[in-house]
Amino acid sequence: MIICICNRIAESEVHSAIAKGARRAEEVHACCGADVDCGSCLKMIDDIMDQACMASTPQLQAAG
Ligand code: FES
Repeated sequence: MIICICNRIAESEVHSAIAKGARRAEEVHACCGADVDCGSCLKMIDDIMDQACMASTPQLQAAG
C-alpha cells in the first residue's frame, strides 16, 4: 500500500525506515530519499510509527 502518494513511499518502506531508526515522519521521508511535499501522509506515518512502537513494547499494550 502506498502511504505517501507524492513520493510513492510504500508502507513497507515506512516500516523499514522505522527499523533503521526513523522516529519522525520527516525522518521516514529522508530515509526514503524524499522530502515532505503536501504533508497529507504525515498523520498516517505517525500512526504507523505509534503502532510499531506499541508492538515493540508489550508492557504498554498490557497497561492499555
Ligand atoms: S502524500 Fe506524502 S508528502 Fe504528499
